[in-house]
Amino acid sequence: MESAADLEVLDAALTLIHTRQHASPKRLGEPGPDRAQIDTILGAAGAAPDHRRLTPWRLIIIPKERRHLLGEAFAEALAERDPEATEVQKQEAREKALRGPFLALAVARLDPDLGDIHPRERMISAGCAIQNMLLVAHAMGFGAGLSSGRALYSRQLRQLFRLAEHEQPLCFICVGTVTNSKPAKPRPALSDYTSTL
Ligand SMILES: Cc1cc2nc3c(=O)[nH]c(=O)nc-3n(C[C@H](O)[C@H](O)[C@H](O)COP(=O)(O)O)c2cc1C
Repeated sequence: MESAADLEVLDAALTLIHTRQHASPKRLGEPGPDRAQIDTILGAAGAAPDHRRLTPWRLIIIPKERRHLLGEAFAEALAERDPEATEVQKQEAREKALRGPFLALAVARLDPDLGDIHPRERMISAGCAIQNMLLVAHAMGFGAGLSSGRALYSRQLRQLFRLAEHEQPLCFICVGTVTNSKPAKPRPALSDYTSTL
């Protein structure tokens, strides 16, 4: 039988999981996590399931003072895929990189030389690491969200982050204080995603 303390832990874990909500970078303002809080959030990633302990992903922090470089990559990626993009659209693309106090890029390491673990397992490990970070940020009272967008898959982004041949950018993780909250989205029912063999 579970003790009262166990039930409290379970209750807290379920509340944390079920109240986490995506917050887009444009709804995340200051204050963001401080250095110690960032380390705690990043540390949670390292507790993700990881078959053969390859650490098949990595996180690249993008400090505020280097966000303009990401903005340029966004603008250049836009100009390349749409030569008719206007200066206003390019400026909007640049500004996206400035949003949110804490920003990091999650990258999957799919190099076969890293070890004999299927890329799909590595991606799952990365997803677990990302979820750990989202949950810890939420537990600290911050809002957090993932973002992707077409520029994520661009040559410019690969160049900026110096991604190696077998590395794949997965998403940006942004953490900060929610400036305007949104109602919770409905979750799928168990029957939507479970069946019995
Ligand atoms: C890999 C990944 C990339 C995402 N990229 C975006 C994005 O570019 N823009 C966005 O609004 N949401 C993005 N999301 C967040 C989803 O929109 C969000 O998780 C979904 O709406 C469910 O909401 P919830 O997280 O509050 O449950 C992304 C989620 C994942 C897993």
